[in-house]
Amino acid sequence: MLTFSIEKTDTPTDAKKRAEWLANPVFGRIFTDHMAIIRYSEGKGWHDAKITARKPLSIDPASTVLHYGQEIFEGMKAYRGADGHIKSFRPEANAERFAASARRMGMAVLPEDLFVQAVDELVRIDQDWVPSGEGQSLYLRPFMISNEVFLGVKPSTEYLFIVIGCPVGAYFGSGAVSVWVSEFFTRAAIGGTGEAKCGGNYAGSLVAQAEAKEKGCDQVLFLDARERRYVEEMGGMNIMFVRNDGKIVTPPLGGTILRGITRNSIIRLAADNGIEVLEEPVDIEEVFSGAASGKYTEAFACGTAAVLSPIGKLRRPSGEAVFGNGEPGPIAIKLKKILTDVQSGRAPDKHSWLHDIV
Ligand code: PLP
Ligand code: COI
Repeated sequence: MLTFSIEKTDTPTDAKKRAEWLANPVFGRIFTDHMAIIRYSEGKGWHDAKITARKPLSIDPASTVLHYGQEIFEGMKAYRGADGHIKSFRPEANAERFAASARRMGMAVLPEDLFVQAVDELVRIDQDWVPSGEGQSLYLRPFMISNEVFLGVKPSTEYLFIVIGCPVGAYFGSGAVSVWVSEFFTRAAIGGTGEAKCGGNYAGSLVAQAEAKEKGCDQVLFLDARERRYVEEMGGMNIMFVRNDGKIVTPPLGGTILRGITRNSIIRLAADNGIEVLEEPVDIEEVFSGAASGKYTEAFACGTAAVLSPIGKLRRPSGEAVFGNGEPGPIAIKLKKILTDVQSGRAPDKHSWLHDIV
């Protein structure tokens, strides 16, 4: 634990303006007034923890992050619960994954309790920014950049850890999303950085995401890099399929996909509700033939930003796979309700996933 010095902003957002923004928050465009920041230097360790006004960073042009991309981040949410208190969802799991990402990228490892503390401190000072509407929350973006002024290629000796927050509503509009299957671009190979939540993975995915958009789809789906045959995950979400035997199947964690916290939560909540989730390789050909034959009845995306978003169809150059009638399916709707009821405090928190902040 470190003690955070608190430097409140001199220019807080006008309450009326904030209320207008909170009524209809657009994902990732509006930010709270403050940020949490902690510095790391080799020899000195983590130090200089503070809450300060959210403002631009001053970075030396030779800072390592600008050249070699040592950057990792997390995505998590805090909710205004049914009891009026603000709670975050499974922050320890984000802290653990952040540490794993840091190790993979050769970066300094932030102690997990300090990660949670920094997020809590920011939410506490910006608590008026946590919206209370249906499907709304405060999205938190903890991230870390390397910041040594040096052009040699080696792990940095200096790091900046920062948390910013933005009020958000739904990531996708209503209805089912459409997904483009990327047959050329892949996201991650065995031994690569696929399991780390590093900015570079997203940089590499953007051309495929742009292709998806051009093809009229909301998101891109990546296949394995070796055979381009097995489903991996989407640009910013994990994926699950519902079969007509009532079971759900999702690609296994094997080092190339992100260990989604929503994925893990859904697997556990599904089990609580008598629905088995198989973590098995999913062959894209079987998905296309199974959607046509009725074996695959539903598909959905899961992630912090997307929560649980039903997928109506997959599209690829040779055709489409439409699940059911292309509308959100009953299992996806049911699981979304079960998950969001826990997150918002409407249902009992049997797994102790909610973390009290204020
Ligand atoms: N996969 C990718 C590539 C992601 O960016 C995300 C979002 O964070 C996920 C999966 C889902 O992870 P989580 O449920 O922990 O948000
Ligand atoms: C998240 O869900 O937190 C992500 O990082 C994914 C991105 C699409 C916003």
